[in-house]
Amino acid sequence: MSEASRRQLLLNSVAFAAAGAMSIPLLGEALPQPSPGKEAPGEKEPEVTATEDLMREHGVIRRALLVYYEVIPKLRQNPGSVDAAALRETARLFRTFGEDYHERMLEEQHIFPLIRKQGAELKGYADVLTAQHQRGREVTDYVLAVTNGGKISAAHAEPLARVFETFVLMYQNHAAREDTIVFPAWKRNFTDKQLDEIGDQFEEIEHKMFGKDGFEDAEKKISGIEQVLGFADLAQFTPPPPPKL
Ligand SMILES: [Fe+2]
Ligand SMILES: [Fe+2]
Repeated sequence: MSEASRRQLLLNSVAFAAAGAMSIPLLGEALPQPSPGKEAPGEKEPEVTATEDLMREHGVIRRALLVYYEVIPKLRQNPGSVDAAALRETARLFRTFGEDYHERMLEEQHIFPLIRKQGAELKGYADVLTAQHQRGREVTDYVLAVTNGGKISAAHAEPLARVFETFVLMYQNHAAREDTIVFPAWKRNFTDKQLDEIGDQFEEIEHKMFGKDGFEDAEKKISGIEQVLGFADLAQFTPPPPPKL
């Protein structure tokens, strides 16, 4: 795709998003083929497909959910020991990368409008998933509010622990259904070539919103938060062997 037509697609998409329209841009029609072999090997990052893009975003979101999950027992035992600033950073990442970008710009603009037309069951999914995005935004507002003062007050500790429990369970189900039901159904609407074009378009939206690479930056942010909270070493999560029978 030429730089000009790519830019136009992006502008269309941003305009749709700004207007809150439920339409999707026309894709894959008479778009010029990318010229193969133009870039020398090593000059270009390996291609990330549209669904791989969405699923690796879920990876960052799941790591934020794991931060929430790990903090639950600490909130109950000793809320004063919880690093409110790190929790607040997690909620900020959830907002910018999870809600404003992944949910609003990709799923609600590109994925859900199409699957709504693919039968009652998928329409039902789109409705519930949209309502869950909205509930998630309320949760993020709440987390940002109770972490505002630098410490979690005793009065907020148990309500926040309960919010995290129910929110993590909701979002794990949410992302898992999207990965296994919604994204595969959405993908069936397109040829491989069209999916390539959409992948490029998603990347353009990402660059437009975050600068060079929103995913890499978000991954670095969640890694930093894990480091601060002591969750960085993956091996600590390997459980002991199960009881011998
Ligand atoms: Fe979603
Ligand atoms: Fe999602």
